Amino acid sequence: KTVSATGVGYTGPEEGRDPRAQAGEFVTSPMGVRLPDTDHSLKAGRRGPTLLEDFHLREKINAFDHERIPERVVHARGAAAHGVFTAYGTAGNITRAAVLAEKDLQTPVFVRFSTVLGSRGSADTARDTRGFAVKFYSKEGNWDLVGNNMPVFFIQDAIKFPDIIHAGKPSPSREIPQAQSAHDSFWDFVTLHTEATHHTIWNMSDRGIPRSFRMMEGFGVHTFRLVNEARDTVLVQFKWTPKLGVHSLTWEEAQLAMGADPDFHRRDLADAIEAGAFPEWELGVQVFPDNDEQMYEGIDLLDPTKIVPEEMVPVQPIGKLVLNANPTNYFAETEQVAFNTGHVVPGIEFTNDPLLQGRNFSYLDTQLTRLGGPNWRQIPINRPHAPVNDNHRDGFMQQGIPEGDAPYLPNWVDGGEPVPADWEHGGYVNVPRHVEGDVVRESQSSFEDHFSQAAMFYASLSHPEQVHVTEAYAFELGKVYEKEIKERALTVLAKIDTELCRAVAAGLGLPAPEPDLVDHLDPSPALAQVTGETYPVD
Ligand code: HEM
Repeated sequence: KTVSATGVGYTGPEEGRDPRAQAGEFVTSPMGVRLPDTDHSLKAGRRGPTLLEDFHLREKINAFDHERIPERVVHARGAAAHGVFTAYGTAGNITRAAVLAEKDLQTPVFVRFSTVLGSRGSADTARDTRGFAVKFYSKEGNWDLVGNNMPVFFIQDAIKFPDIIHAGKPSPSREIPQAQSAHDSFWDFVTLHTEATHHTIWNMSDRGIPRSFRMMEGFGVHTFRLVNEARDTVLVQFKWTPKLGVHSLTWEEAQLAMGADPDFHRRDLADAIEAGAFPEWELGVQVFPDNDEQMYEGIDLLDPTKIVPEEMVPVQPIGKLVLNANPTNYFAETEQVAFNTGHVVPGIEFTNDPLLQGRNFSYLDTQLTRLGGPNWRQIPINRPHAPVNDNHRDGFMQQGIPEGDAPYLPNWVDGGEPVPADWEHGGYVNVPRHVEGDVVRESQSSFEDHFSQAAMFYASLSHPEQVHVTEAYAFELGKVYEKEIKERALTVLAKIDTELCRAVAAGLGLPAPEPDLVDHLDPSPALAQVTGETYPVD
């Protein structure tokens, strides 16, 4: 049996109080020894050398010396809040996950918004993708929906993630994002790996400079598989829609905010919550049949660089998120929280999206280093609100005092109970999914279209939004040193829109290449009538 860490073993005069609470009448050492003075070190005479014997000096400086932990390798800068998710019950026919299925069920959540590339101390309003990570402390265990404010990603296979991040992070030589080499490496990567084109144009649009975290959409990006009580499965994509609508800064506003208030977004979030203006989002799903092809009307649902336009498959509302409390302590909560796409609950399964499969490994792996070993799960912000009985033992920074002598199952020594849970007892039982194929290190032909959805996105924008995109490409590519890379970027734009390509070329002082336009989907509402099956969630 694993017992709670809180207060375990503490038998002092204030028995039951968490000894880590940092409260009490007196200042003490970490061992609880009351201290008369915390401003002067122990010396041999007032002008004498400091004594090694001064345990208070050593402990105080030692604790300070080790205050920093590594920042996240990506998404290092973030701000977070607590809240509540209320299920409408409308998803009850597509998933058995209570957090989504049970009408009016309220589940506590912790949500962290972030930029991707900047360090922990970087400015909030940089042009970048924003993270939108939600931890649901469901009664069936923790579920993390680790999304972004854009519905697509740069790459189709997790094996390229170190490469795109190396290309986008500050340059290794100068550690300056604005150094010539950093702009060169980002644009070099996204024009050599052209599956990045769709995500890149979202970044160059106003979506790359949100006005507020409260005014961002959020997307799960991947297709997930939901399972209902009857073991029927569907495929879904998750979307958060902000009650305040989607709003962005202009580039000039973003630049001014970077200088005048680098904490623009985190201040906005905390101030709004403190003032009682609680931000709200509606969670919705697009639902697709779970067939062998995992395609919808020619769009590969396993390709994270693609969307299915909402005009073709509407987003159906399934619940509401309200953020209603700021964290008490930034480090303990916002910094130490550990999201992981691999944290799922019964009723929510993965698909074979090769980006998702790699993420499921990466988060757990990085958190072993970032949070100092396997026991980060016991950090208060990461603890499930469901009972834990996992037979895990020991490890660095173990906080629990498990009882019993037989941490394995079944066992006779501790009485052989409890037993693993089956489907009827709410166990995470995978619904079989058929897999077959040769072992290959290859992509698939359905992943080869890199441009049509970027062209569709650009065509869907209003004129002022298109002007902003044009200016953003001209500005960002203007920081690129190598002419070869700028020319390659223009050949990509030539596939998206002739006027966009021409205007950016003019901005760069280069000739525009011949138009090389791709066909793109026209997501007009009429299309909704010709697409196949629809799945009403209620
Ligand atoms: C962190 C989203 C792709 C590795 C994050 C965070 C978000 C996020 C929101 C911040 C979590 C937080 O607030 O603590 C996404 C999305 C992706 C994606 C939406 C694509 C659809 C990937 C891939 C990998 C990866 C492909 C690796 C193969 C990481 C790592 C962290 C991270 C290592 C830091 C986690 C930590 O230190 O706790 N990601 N990511 N991500 N992501 Fe991703």
